[in-house]
Order: sequence, then C-alpha cells, then structure tokens
Amino acid sequence: MDKLAKTSVKINDLIARRWSARAYNPNIPIEGWKIISLCEAARWAPSCAAEEPWRFIVWDKNRAEDDFQRAFDTLDEGNRKWVKNAQVLIAVLSDTKWRNDRTKTNKWAPFDTGAAAMSIYLQAFDLGLYAHPMAGFDADKLRLEFQIPEDYEPYALIAVGYPGNVEELEPTYRQRELGERKRRPLEENFYFSKWGEPIKLNEFMEER
Ligand SMILES: Cc1cc2nc3c(=O)[nH]c(=O)nc-3n(C[C@H](O)[C@H](O)[C@H](O)COP(=O)(O)O)c2cc1C
Repeated sequence: MDKLAKTSVKINDLIARRWSARAYNPNIPIEGWKIISLCEAARWAPSCAAEEPWRFIVWDKNRAEDDFQRAFDTLDEGNRKWVKNAQVLIAVLSDTKWRNDRTKTNKWAPFDTGAAAMSIYLQAFDLGLYAHPMAGFDADKLRLEFQIPEDYEPYALIAVGYPGNVEELEPTYRQRELGERKRRPLEENFYFSKWGEPIKLNEFMEER
C-alpha cells in the first residue's frame, strides 16, 4: 500500500514512501539476511564522537518464540492488537553514559539513536517490509524481563513484518491505515535566519 508523503518539491523516494503501517502478514517470516540488513543500516548511522551509543535487541517470532512473546507482553493493549501479526520486534535503547567516562551523561545519545532507528525504518521499506516504532510499551517491565542495566535507556520497540491485509485490522486501526498521512505546514517548524521566522516556500522556489 502506497501512502506517499505530499511534498512541495521532490524528495528521496524511500523517505516519501516510509510510513508507520499496522497491517502485517502473519504467515511470512522475515529472512535472516533481511534482519541483519536492518541492523547494518542502523550500525552505519552517524554518532557524536563516534560513540555508537545505540543498542538494539532483536526478537524473531520464528527463531525464539518465547523471548518474542516476553517482549510482546510489554506492549500496551492498543499496540498488541495490531502487533500480533508482526514477525520481528526490535527494542531501541541507548547507552546514556560516555564509553570512557561512566560518570558523565552523553546528551547526544538519544539523538544518535533516533538517527539509527530511522535507518531501520528506511531499510525495512527498501526491503519490502514495514517497520513501525512504538513508545507504547512498559519500559520498566522490559528492563526487568531482559535484565537491561541501569545505564541503558529503552526508547521504543519497532514492529517489523511484511505487508498484510488491511481488512483484518480492527475498525479504528483500519481507518487510520487507510487515512491520509498528515504533517504540519513546512513554515510552522522550519525557520529562516531567525528563531520563529517561518521559511517562505515561495521565495525559495524562485531561482536567484
Ligand atoms: C518514538 C515513537 C513512538 C511511537 N509510538 C507509537 C505507538 O506506541 N503506537 C503507534 O501505533 N504508533 C506509534 N508511533 C508512530 C507514530 O504515530 C507515527 O510515526 C506518526 O503518526 C507519523 O506517521 P507516519 O510514521 O506514518 O509518517 C510512534 C512513533 C515514534 C517515532
């Protein structure tokens, strides 16, 4: 299903095509090499001081069902309803401290980890998969279940799978799945030269 971003000028096709889908195919496992490909995409993200502060835990329903189930059980009820058909879950975490000084907080860790996560979503789409990030999970439960050390912060779980049948989603989710993708106007969040000064699309479209 295509849900192309509506943009004022052409952007990279993969970026335009990516979206957070919910209808997964329950019958097609994800090839091992594709799972590694998602990891490689994240691995090559940029990071402050080349710290690579991200950590990812991958759960594959078809390789370690019990562990997948334990990760799945940390999800909010709403997310469980559609994630049940996903084949893989990936936890996105980061090391909150610098590698060479465990007393100091790396304030760029979430920034770098978010960039690595975006690489996963894009790589997934390039491989014909869907990838959907979720903050709707119990981070404390995840920490306990998988013995995640204190210095590491879980931010999100990503559901991954092949596209499935939209008709099988619950009505609320079906509506969202078929609805238009929306963003605020460009001028609202993008400024030019000064704080709060909206960038003016028309001015930029005229060649100098
Ligand atoms: C950190 C993060 C947490 C999110 N949490 C959830 C979630 O718990 N459940 C959900 O259905 N979608 C979740 N989303 C997906 C967003 O709702 C979605 O990205 C947003 O509506 C924009 O839609 P798009 O990704 O299709 O462009 C999350 C996205 C991000 C980046």
